[in-house]
Formats: sequence, C-alpha cells, structure tokens
Amino acid sequence: HVYTDYFFNESAYDYHDGGYVPLEKHDAPESKLNIPEVLKPDKVDGNDVWYTVEAQTGETQILPGEKTKTWGYNQSLLGKTIIYEDGKNYHVTLKNSLPELTTYHWHGLDVPGPYIDGGCHAPVYPGEAKEIEFPVHQPAATTWLHAHPCPLTGWDVWHGLACAVVVKDQHEATLPLPRNYGVDDIPVILQDRRFDEHNQWNYDDDYDPDGTEGPTALINGTVNPYFDVTTQKLRLRFLDGSNRREWRLHLSDDMVMTQIASDGGLLPEPVYLTKLMMTCAERTEVVLDFGKYKPGDEVTLYSDDTPILKFKIHEFAKDNTEIPDHLADMDYPDPDKDSLVHQVVMSGTDEEVEFNGKKFGMMRIDDRQELGKSEYWDITNTNDCCGGMIHPYHSHGGQFMVVSRNGEAPYPNERGYKDTIGVNAGETVRVKMKFNHPGIFMYHCHIIEHEDGGMMAQLQVYTKDDPYKKYKLMDMKTL
Ligand code: C2O
Ligand code: CU
Ligand code: CU
Repeated sequence: HVYTDYFFNESAYDYHDGGYVPLEKHDAPESKLNIPEVLKPDKVDGNDVWYTVEAQTGETQILPGEKTKTWGYNQSLLGKTIIYEDGKNYHVTLKNSLPELTTYHWHGLDVPGPYIDGGCHAPVYPGEAKEIEFPVHQPAATTWLHAHPCPLTGWDVWHGLACAVVVKDQHEATLPLPRNYGVDDIPVILQDRRFDEHNQWNYDDDYDPDGTEGPTALINGTVNPYFDVTTQKLRLRFLDGSNRREWRLHLSDDMVMTQIASDGGLLPEPVYLTKLMMTCAERTEVVLDFGKYKPGDEVTLYSDDTPILKFKIHEFAKDNTEIPDHLADMDYPDPDKDSLVHQVVMSGTDEEVEFNGKKFGMMRIDDRQELGKSEYWDITNTNDCCGGMIHPYHSHGGQFMVVSRNGEAPYPNERGYKDTIGVNAGETVRVKMKFNHPGIFMYHCHIIEHEDGGMMAQLQVYTKDDPYKKYKLMDMKTL
C-alpha cells in the first residue's frame, strides 16, 4: 500500500498563520549538496571514545559573493556528523569559542538530565570547555545536537548550531539497508533563511514570536543543492532543523519514498508514501529506489511547490536487495492500569503561548515521574486562536510511543519510537513514556520561538531512594 496524501490535517498547517513566509526558489546557481564530514574521535580506548565538540563562529560561502557570518560545531556552519555506537561509553568535551554562553543539547539521546542532556541548566560560558561522560544505549537512529540556552535557542540554532548525530547498533547493521555515509546514506537537514543584500542573516529582523522563517530553503547549509546519485538506492536522513517551518516533502513523478525510521529508530515495518510532512525537530529516514531511472535523469524533491534538492542520476550497479517487511521489534512497556495520566496543554500564539496555563519557569519543577515506570502523557493543542497551528511537542529524556490521536490510531509512520510529535489544532495526542535516567528534563513545543517564549515546562524523573533530590538549576537572572 502506498499512502498518497499527508497524514496531518491541512486546516492546521502553520501556513494559515499570519506570519507565514512561503518558500521561494532563490536565484543563486545550483551547487553540490554539502555533506558534513564525520567527526573524528580524539581518542579511542576499548569501549571508550573521546570527542571534542567546539561551538565556533565563522564565515561560510553559501551564495556567490559575500560570505555569510555563521556559527557551527567544529566548522563554520552546522556541524560534523557525530556517530555513536550503542554500547559504547563517550567522553565529550564541549568547548565554547562563541562570544556568548551556549548549551549542547542531545536531542533524542537517552542520557541523564539536566547537565549531560544539555538543556538550559548546562551552560558552557565563552572560552570554557567542559567534559561530559555518558554511555549510549539505544537503538540505531538519527538524533541531533543543537544549542539550547533558554531563551536564546532560536537565536543559536538560526546562526547554525545544529548537526546530525547518528546512532548505530548491531541489529540495524544486519538489515539490507544503505549505510555507506556520504554515498548512499546522507543527512538532509532542512532549514530556511532569509539572505539580505550582503548575503547575511538577520535574526532580529526576521524574528516572529510564532517561529522565525525565511523564504530560502537551506539544505545541509546549501542553497539550490544537487546530489550525485551513484547507487540505485539512497537513504535520506531527514531532520527538520528549522526554527518553525513544516516541510511537506514530495518528489517528481510522485516517486515513492520508503520510510524506514522515525525519531528514535527503525519503524516496525516500512511505510510507503509519496507525501511526507515533517514538523520541527522530527527525523525520518527514507529509502529512494532509482531503479527506473537512467544516467542523465533528474529527480527533484519539493516542499509544497518549491524545489529544494535535485538528484542527478549517474551510472549505478543494479541493486536487487529488498527492504524487509519487518524492520524492528518495538519493546515498550504499557503503563499500569491505575497510573496517573500527565497532562500537557499547549495554548496561545505569538507572545501569548503557554504550557498548562503558564510560561516556563527555570526554577520550577512542573511534573514528576518515577524512573523506569511507563506512564501516559496526554498532549493537547487547544487551537484557541486564528485557525490554530500545529505544535510539535518534544520531550527530553528519551523516546515515547504514540498511543492515539484524539482516540484514533496514530499515523502509519509514527508507530516507532518518537521524541517529537506534531499535534494538530484541537487534538489530544496520547503517548506513553518511560524515562531511563533520573534528572530534570524539559518538554516543550519545538517551534523554537514558542519554546523560547515560554511554551515549555520541566519534570523531575526521580528514584524511590531520593525522590526530592536537589539539582542546581539555572535562574534566568543568573545567565
Ligand atoms: Cu530539540 Cu529541548 O530540544
Ligand atoms: Cu530535546
Ligand atoms: Cu508551538
């Protein structure tokens, strides 16, 4: 079965919001899609691996003419791709060479909060370097790293502080899927910016409390990119790294995408679709099969009607491998019958956004959940203004599973592990969530300006032996 329409309700698309900026094709010439290099470890010793992630300023040649002032991790824009292996232990030095404080948030990694997780309680000040250590224990997935200093996450990410973090495991490695990084397995980081006449980005000019956008698609930091296809099958690891934009992806000839993974790893079975909508911070992995194309052909990826990435087909060897009907076993406990249901209500637009009727308080713990216990979370988008918007809900502290949307089955492509879920206006999405590490974790709308504007809360994951453990939390004032 091939799904030929988006799963989300059109009535809630964020383009109905007054501030929406449609994509437009930039008149710059096409250029080769930037494929970030893989970050090299500083040192490997048995099961232990050391990395350095340096946040830095720089200049990037994105358009012809003047370079753009940008920020990145270990490079001038975005970052080198970090590869973690399930079962290994990592020591990461977080170095801040920016002129201001930042944090390093591992979005989708199952690590303890609030310091290793890198939310707003884990600042690294300019000129400082801090080492964190954590084991990686989770299924193969496309996760990501981005800055998270509250309330300046939007500012940091807009400047370029985001990169792909790929987790590998032994199960995924046995499946017949493309995994030759840069050749048949590539990250596709979807962002949008506005370039001024000097090719610069001006966050403050473009700022919108409902999410900052620009008309130009920026894919892995490239404008009007093309990718040279040299294999019949190509795995794309899409990451919606935009501050606010939803991407409605489809290909020329209505080419079918085989979705194999969502945020937290492989889906139980592949989902075949011609239209794929992604909300902020979500990841999807799809495999494209260029079997019916010949050298010289081109396939174009669009978001709405704007071309955003071109695939140029070259000679390739025939590939008869088939994607298995079963990709992974989902293993997630159900909550106990009588366990409480956590409530999250996302309401408002612009400066009025709220979470359970409040703005985020850095020193306030809004909810609590016991370590290792699965519980339901009901996430409601009240749709109380202007046709409403989709709010992409995200929880730190691991992965959840979607149970229902307004009591109905989840969409076919959200039956795997998720950490971010688009909630339609007027809808309640029920998820079940279990935390595997204690700590303080944020949960919020991932339209980054909503998050910065206070559409966020935090919970304490506690252990029975120290249920009210105190953590040193940052106050906005101490920033
Ligand atoms: Cu992607 Cu709280 O973050
Ligand atoms: Cu996160
Ligand atoms: Cu929102």
